[in-house]
Amino acid sequence: MSLAGRKVLLGVTGGIAAYKSADLVRRIREQGAEVRVVMTEGAQAFVTPLTFQAVSGNDVRTDLFDRGAEAAMGHIELARWADVICVAPASADFIARLRAGMANDLLTTLCLATDAKLVIAPAMNRLMWSNPATQENCVTLEQRGVVMLGPASGSQACGETGEGRMMQPLEIVDDLSRLLGEGPLAGKQVLITAGPTLEPIDPVRYISNNSSGKMGYAVAAAAARLGAVVTLVSGPVTLDAPPHVQRVWANSAEEMLNAVMPRAAEADIFIATAAVADYRPAQQADNKIKKQNESLNIALERTEDILATVAGTYKDVFTVGFAAETDKLLEYARGKLERKQLDMVAANWVNQPGTGFDADQNALTLVTTDGEEELPVQSKAQLATELMDKVLAAYQRSAKNS
Ligand code: PMT
Repeated sequence: MSLAGRKVLLGVTGGIAAYKSADLVRRIREQGAEVRVVMTEGAQAFVTPLTFQAVSGNDVRTDLFDRGAEAAMGHIELARWADVICVAPASADFIARLRAGMANDLLTTLCLATDAKLVIAPAMNRLMWSNPATQENCVTLEQRGVVMLGPASGSQACGETGEGRMMQPLEIVDDLSRLLGEGPLAGKQVLITAGPTLEPIDPVRYISNNSSGKMGYAVAAAAARLGAVVTLVSGPVTLDAPPHVQRVWANSAEEMLNAVMPRAAEADIFIATAAVADYRPAQQADNKIKKQNESLNIALERTEDILATVAGTYKDVFTVGFAAETDKLLEYARGKLERKQLDMVAANWVNQPGTGFDADQNALTLVTTDGEEELPVQSKAQLATELMDKVLAAYQRSAKNS
């Protein structure tokens, strides 16, 4: 993939990661793109405009009211010029202003005045990142179609360790290529759920299942290889996020629903691989339940069906459900396809040795309104590649591919 001939407007905001953005400019240019840089006031406290002028080969814009610069290329022209606006690093303050729709400096003004793809790579202290205000701002921005790259986890400039580091320049370039690139799913957003959910009974006990996340993570990796922008909403598992996949954690069915719904608004394809609990305890005890009686009855209530809710709400999203069955595989899978109004169901046995939950291998029967197709036993990685090829072909044939 390459960025040859593309026009990238790079926004740099105030954060120590701004020093990495100079390398990012070089990497983008190596891929054949033209880069123009806009810096906020905060960014200039970390790196000088001269640095970006040298690496980009273009004047750097810093001020909305610079008459000389406006005469050369006005800010509206600049907003129209870009194929993509990439803000890296994106500080918590910038993200808040972007969410609020403010236009109180050149960069936020450009972001409002463009119809180019908007991509942001957050970078901040881990507590600033996990603060509900920042999290809500990011969810709202994603809902509006802004693509989030990262942040990554690791040691931070402030001496702490956690989530909030800017992604590496090469990773950002890869994702930009993916967004603007040539893979068969380039520019498409694929949303995937994976893993189990945990439904708490009391502070130390829960109801769950044996899903390891292996199938869903393999599907996410395969979708990313086809060039899609992939978001993986994952239940608690111990797997690493696949390359070029944006992972969002969700523990319970309710958390998973809340993570999925705003993102589904922007998705082109939704694949529900997660083994979401169908029931949860109606009450969660505040304290550990004591061992007093010979038996304990726990009242359960239904969870909301995430897949059915997505399919019912976003009719233009191509929806693929999984069906985990121990009998009547085809009958139940077809029932799910029709009842939930899905485009495809990938059905698997979960009572056979060596496949299904937690296994490294699996087999699928794909069910659509056109018929059935067997994908035989193989590694989950190979199976996911075959599945994504079938999903791609069905999506390209469908009216939802516009
Ligand atoms: O994670 P692994 O260990 O690799 O195992 C893979 C797997 C066996 C979990 C996977 O291949 C699989 O079958 N996933 C679906 C499991 C499941 O919950 O199936 P179901 O038949 O109960 O649900 C049907 C569909 O509705 C699924 O797409 C499920 O994600 C979705 N669902 C179910 C309930 C609910 N509340 N919300 C949902 O979205």
